[in-house]
Amino acid sequence: MYKITKKRELTTNIYLMDVEAGRVAKSCQPGQFVIVRMDQEGERIPLTICDYDREKGTVTIVFQSVGAGTQMMAGLEEGDSFQDFAGPLGCPSELVKEDLAALREKRILFVAGGVGAAPVYPQVKWLHENGVAADVIVGSKTKDLLILEEEMKAVAGNLYVTTDDGSYGRSGMVTQTIKDLVAEGKKYDVCIAIGPMIMMKFVCLLTKELNLPTVVSLNPIMVDGTGMCGACRVTVDGKVKFACVDGPEFDGHAVNFDEAMRRQQMYKTQEGRSILKLQEGDTHHGGCGNCGA
Ligand code: NAD
Ligand code: FES
Repeated sequence: MYKITKKRELTTNIYLMDVEAGRVAKSCQPGQFVIVRMDQEGERIPLTICDYDREKGTVTIVFQSVGAGTQMMAGLEEGDSFQDFAGPLGCPSELVKEDLAALREKRILFVAGGVGAAPVYPQVKWLHENGVAADVIVGSKTKDLLILEEEMKAVAGNLYVTTDDGSYGRSGMVTQTIKDLVAEGKKYDVCIAIGPMIMMKFVCLLTKELNLPTVVSLNPIMVDGTGMCGACRVTVDGKVKFACVDGPEFDGHAVNFDEAMRRQQMYKTQEGRSILKLQEGDTHHGGCGNCGA
């Protein structure tokens, strides 16, 4: 069992939890994720790792209560436990594998949309701890929905906050702030964008025009998280990839976002999953037995 040692509501329906998971805390890297399950019958819920404390043996997760599974999770309190806390899953961020001297020369821009601030945070923190100051744009619909601002401020080179309705910070979506920064003379070598799929699509359309290489972290529907079920299938550079084992990070300019978004909608229903099975054949389903196909 994996005990919750801290629970905090960051804003309406978005929660942060520290969970005792020593083995995961010991080996996880920025960019990786876990799959949690409350009990034997519980839904398997993939969550990006927001932070970790190797000494305390805790992993921090942030989640938005949207479906039945996450609503039940929101009902857990400090002292309660998860039955399963599987991870670390997926590949670590490419940044943590780079030569540090070369990385320190790089001008890095992170773009975090909404709950996407949670997976961006450990990467920016890791860079900060290794002497790399990255610029960070954090966008939310309104001031009330903004999360992790103070935490991000402590580790970012420059932090640019923007709200869609202009209620705090700059006004407009994250893409507007990218345009503004470039117009102000800022230059970047790489952009890492994490947030809702639609945001990542439009960030990539813009950065393609700006000739700015861009990495995205995809979070399609996942079931097993081990490359078996096919739920998280995406097309990157015309090739079939599985976000859980080949990603979650990919070259944003090569991702077929329209297909990924369409697939995400279709996977929600039994009929949609049956159509996908017909369309995708073997690559749809490797035998987990959970997706209903
Ligand atoms: P949101 O809808 O509030 O959007 C966040 C920000 O993204 C907006 O403030 C805006 O600046 C930007 N954005 C949205 N649409 C845009 C567009 N068309 N063009 C340019 N910018 C745009 O975000 P939310 O409610 O926090 O999003 C929740 C979604 O994010 C869920 O679907 C969740 O699965 C996903 N998510 C993804 C990751 C990931 O790893 N990629 C992590 C956490 C959550
Ligand atoms: Fe990736 Fe099943 S969740 S293949």
